[in-house]
Amino acid sequence: MSADRQKRDTARRALEFVEDGMRLGLGTGSTAVHFVAAIGERVADGLNVICVPTSEATAAQARSLNIPLTTLEETPELDLTVDGADELDDALNLIKGGGGALLREKIVASASDRMVIIVDASKHSEALGSFALPVEVVPFGAEATYRQLAAVAKAFGCQGDVTLRMKDGAPFMTDGQHLIYDCAFGVIEDAPGLADELNRIPGVVENGLFIGMATLALVGTDGGVKTIEPKR
Ligand code: 5RP
Repeated sequence: MSADRQKRDTARRALEFVEDGMRLGLGTGSTAVHFVAAIGERVADGLNVICVPTSEATAAQARSLNIPLTTLEETPELDLTVDGADELDDALNLIKGGGGALLREKIVASASDRMVIIVDASKHSEALGSFALPVEVVPFGAEATYRQLAAVAKAFGCQGDVTLRMKDGAPFMTDGQHLIYDCAFGVIEDAPGLADELNRIPGVVENGLFIGMATLALVGTDGGVKTIEPKR
């Protein structure tokens, strides 16, 4: 079965968690696209929800499907966010930000009572770190921030390249006009400690480690959609 089919199946399964009247966070990425499409169909059939998108791309898709949108200013508390991930472990700690939306994704998830993760089977791993960790930084002083990132990585026993994300020959800019460093750290032994230490660097806006935020994951596999609940 293709990864895209697994993504579609898991996104459809996530509809089971959506109830009429809910305030929803809509994730970003190729898996979340399937969920937003499914919500669009339900809205066309009469589902009443109000949604906060985690990126401009998701906002554009939602608008094209007539999904009612709001902001965290108008609706600061959400019932449920459904989002993808780049990697997840059995404790449901995540690496996110492959699509560059990690800051808004973390803000929206933290405003939500529940966060359901939808992924294809390739994203599930025993220990986080096979996907390079995205770290969002402000452009001012980025070289100094880069050096501090490398020092923190070394202190946590993480090796591997820290690379400025590029797009079309220029630095990739997030929706918030920040840069992203992708940190190929390898296996991350102490993800909560690393996440805290990275966020202590003044130029770091946020890092892609989502620790203890997901309440449930739906993993699309060739044998069907598997549910993972966090072992904490
Ligand atoms: C975007 C994200 C995405 O959730 C993550 O990159 C997974 O994307 P996809 O579903 O396309 O594999 O964190 O910032």
